[in-house]
Amino acid sequence: MESTRNKLIQLLADSSEKYISGQLLSDELQISRSAIWKHMKELEKDGYQIEGKSNKGYRIISYPDKLSENTIRWGLETNWIGKSIIHKESTTSTQHIAHDEARNGAAHGTIIIADEQTNGKGRMNRSWFSTKGKGMWLSIILRPKISPLQAPQLTLLTATVLADVLHSYCNVQPLIKWPNDILLHDKKIVGILTEMQAEQDIINYIVIGIGLNVNQSKDDLPEEISHRATSLLIETEKEHSIKALIQEILTTFEKSYDQYIKNGFPEIKQKWESYGFKIGEEITIKTLKDHFRAIFLGIEEDGALRIKRMDGSIEKLYSAEIDW
Ligand code: BTN
Repeated sequence: MESTRNKLIQLLADSSEKYISGQLLSDELQISRSAIWKHMKELEKDGYQIEGKSNKGYRIISYPDKLSENTIRWGLETNWIGKSIIHKESTTSTQHIAHDEARNGAAHGTIIIADEQTNGKGRMNRSWFSTKGKGMWLSIILRPKISPLQAPQLTLLTATVLADVLHSYCNVQPLIKWPNDILLHDKKIVGILTEMQAEQDIINYIVIGIGLNVNQSKDDLPEEISHRATSLLIETEKEHSIKALIQEILTTFEKSYDQYIKNGFPEIKQKWESYGFKIGEEITIKTLKDHFRAIFLGIEEDGALRIKRMDGSIEKLYSAEIDW
């Protein structure tokens, strides 16, 4: 039943604005025309708006806001990202699925999206709270032809994409905390986790995982993070369509990535610094073996953190946490 329904949606989606006749649907799906009609009524109950004309057939006019491969694809005008979409209602982590898919040859631009993650992964082996239906839990598989040393630039690029979408689409003022947290009013709203499978000089694949808190109320955020995390609902006092956000993020990501491949990192660096949190200010740097105050000068051409120690010496750091 479920697969007939999915095939039906797929046929309607493929024919886009054009009508597809009841007879053709019944031939393709090998079910009666009255069964087709019943499926259409079920789809309408699920929020699909379907137009049926007696001498023309059926077409989908609009999709529900619910996430599925079809609803995300509908209206997504990208060239390569999201051409292959895997949607799960619930999974341990979209990163796990992305690694499996990538190892099995998934194409550049494949995306994995879940309504809920039961074991969401954050950086430094932390967990990531991924409440059902309240946020965007997305992983993107990339196969960039760049050196593994440049891979951190893609994390910084992703942060600028999220900051741009939050700023222009949601009308909020995001800041990026190095390397890749996005803050609104000093609270984290986006986390980015980049994982790579590479050899000495070539990247086999990269998985970029993005967690964006969208429709959580204060009560939905677990107590242990509620003082340092926020959501779009909390910040803007209105609900946002996760589907529309995904489409906006994918479209902006594709444009930014294509420009990066063509023009290199300088434009991303400039944009990143325009959103950079505490640039020019004194911050606390925490590395594995050290803990000190320094001035945050910005990022280097390769994406490293550029700081000035209190004795005036300038340093480049690749792995650290910053705090204020
Ligand atoms: C962090 O700030 O620590 C990174 C958080 C990354 C969370 C996202 S949600 C989608 C993808 N799947 C995961 O399990 N993690 C990333």
